[in-house]
Order: sequence, then C-alpha cells, then structure tokens
Amino acid sequence: MPPSLIQVLIMLSLDGIGKFFGGLAALSDISLKVEEGEFLGLIGPNGSGKTTLFNVISGVLKPSSGRVSFMGADITGLYPDKICHLGVARTFQIPRPLKDLTVVENVMLGALFGDSGRSTYHSEETAKRDAIKYIDFVGLKVGELTMPDELTAAGLRKLELARALATSPTLLLADEVISGLNQEEILEASSVLNRIRDEMGVTIIWVEHIMGALMSLVERVVVLDYGKIIAEGKPSEVSGDKRVVEAYLGEEEQEVY
Ligand SMILES: Nc1ncnc2c1ncn2[C@@H]1O[C@H](COP(=O)(O)OP(=O)(O)OP(=O)(O)O)[C@@H](O)[C@H]1O
Ligand SMILES: [Mg+2]
Repeated sequence: MPPSLIQVLIMLSLDGIGKFFGGLAALSDISLKVEEGEFLGLIGPNGSGKTTLFNVISGVLKPSSGRVSFMGADITGLYPDKICHLGVARTFQIPRPLKDLTVVENVMLGALFGDSGRSTYHSEETAKRDAIKYIDFVGLKVGELTMPDELTAAGLRKLELARALATSPTLLLADEVISGLNQEEILEASSVLNRIRDEMGVTIIWVEHIMGALMSLVERVVVLDYGKIIAEGKPSEVSGDKRVVEAYLGEEEQEVY
C-alpha cells in the first residue's frame, strides 16, 4: 500500500492540557498524540508532572484547561470508572491493593469491574479464571489465599499490572512499574511490558525513572520538565538533547546504566 494510504489511528489526543494546584502550574499547554499500538515513554525529573498527566487522562483529576480525546471521543472530565470502561487502565506509582482481599480477589475485581461497563459479563468463576491468567502473565507466584501484604515490592508492582490488565484495556498507563526492583526483576518486568504491547496489542504509555530499561523498549519518548514538554522523539534523539540533559542534572533519582 502506498504510504499515503496507510491510516494511522490516533488513540489518545491531548490538546492544550493545563493543570493548576493553587498557584502551581503542574501542567502547562500539553499537546500530544498517541497512536494505536504505540509504546511511548514519558520521562522527566521528580515533580515534572508525569503522574498528574496520568491522573488527568484517567479522570482522577479534571484539567484546568484543554481537552482529552480517546478514540475520537472527548473524555475530558469524565469519571475514572467511565474512562476505565472505555478501555483506559492505569497502575499507581504507590501500589494500592485492597488489603483485606487476597491477591487473586484483587485481580478478579479488575475483571469484574472492567466488564461491568461493557456488554459481556463475567461470572465470579470466569473472573477468577481470568485473574489467574493475568497473574501468571505478569509472573506473580502466589497461592489462592496469598494476601497483598505477603508480597515483595516487585510482587506489589506485578499485582498493579495484573489488576489493570484484568480490566481489558486498550491503553495502559504504567506509572513506575519497575521502580524499587533489582536488576533481575527489572528485566523480567520490562519483558512483561513488552509482551503486553506485542502479544495483547495494548498501547502503552510508560512513566519511568530507570532510563536504561525505558529507552531500550519504547519507540518514542516525551520529556516533561516543570509541567511542559521540553523534548520529544526517538530514544536516541532525546537522550542526547541538551535540554533533557540539563533538566536531569542534579537529579539524584536518575538511574542510568
Ligand atoms: N494533588 C495535588 N495537590 C497539590 N499539588 C500536587 C498534587 N499532585 C501533584 N502536585 C504537585 O504537582 C507537581 C507535579 O507532581 P507529579 O506527581 O505529577 O510529578 P511526577 O513527575 O509524577 O514526579 P515523580 O517522578 O516524583 O513521581 C509537583 O510539584 C507536585 O508537588
Ligand atoms: Mg509520579
């Protein structure tokens, strides 16, 4: 097919997003398009607005200005449950399991909740079957009665991923899913992310401070600094960008290897 006839589907479109917390502009005039099937990295120093942007996309926060479109529909200001039902799932930077439920039940909740906005419904039995499938997929080794407080940091991050996947998303917002993990766990979790995109066909926006892992997987990187996009491009282009290097200078959390 000639290149001019290849249709690229824009899955997510952010137009002029701003978010103020009192006098602080956490996000300013963010405009960005994400194609269906893309694996996009979102990086930036601490406090640059990455999680706030995820909160705006997933409906946890309403933007002060601008518009969020998902699959061509305006979703700005919709409640998080509605946005999740449309196919957007997110993990939390600080894992948030429901502590009184088992790990399997936590993931079942994702399956039951994700379905409740769609035409197909899970029974408890099929939700459990799916939960176990996603728990296996992310490489979490648990028994049926394992509780979240028995999990390691790596296990809790895998649980976040499994619960998000159980909602059957088409877009996954992954917020620091490998932070605090050792080298072996980082490689394992990175490979899981790659498989989520390649095997499940889920579009991913990945926020991460661990540059080596992120840069080796994503196709495009967007860099935030003080709530603004300061660079955008292929990992090889962005990592040499003067503004990016300057933004990261003095960042103690930067882990480049
Ligand atoms: N609910 C809130 N109320 C007030 N200020 C907030 C709130 N959430 C975030 N902020 C501020 O907005 C700015 C952006 O924060 P955000 O958490 O989005 O940064 P981040 O890029 O995710 O940082 P990190 O890499 O440390 O996770 C920071 O100055 C933060 O203190
Ligand atoms: Mg954050």
